[in-house]
Amino acid sequence: MILNRFFKLSRQFSAALIVLPIVVVTSPVLAEDDTAYLAMIDGDGKDFAYLVCSDCHAMQHVLQKRYSRRGWRDAITRMTLDFGMAELEANERTLILDYLSRYYSPGSIR
Ligand code: HEC
Repeated sequence: MILNRFFKLSRQFSAALIVLPIVVVTSPVLAEDDTAYLAMIDGDGKDFAYLVCSDCHAMQHVLQKRYSRRGWRDAITRMTLDFGMAELEANERTLILDYLSRYYSPGSIR
């Protein structure tokens, strides 16, 4: 009896070990996120902007805009006031603002 249960358990366990890596490796969400991240211009604040701003919508939805620094500042404020984005610390806000206005403003070099 006990032995039977042991074999049953170990069968279930090894099935889980086989299935788990397949799910992780083939997850389509990961592939999509990688593409959006890789398409971003490299620079200070890229990782953090991606982390915060791709949470609710595609990063492309943000980066297709060309706002001035002031425009980006207002957009970030809108996200918090209108859409419930968590309040950012001043330095976090500056990091994102610097990144977006340096690389995604009307006069940015692309
Ligand atoms: C809590 C969810 C949430 C987070 C986090 C978030 N947004 Fe948004 N964002 C929205 C919603 C909702 C809309 C409006 C619907 C839409 O345009 O898809 C939106 C729209 C936008 C737009 C297009 C419309 C506009 O107002 O210009 C921009 C640009 C934008 N977000 C920038 C950002 C940036 C930059 C960040 C990171 C600092 C960010 N968002 C993070 C929810 C969020």
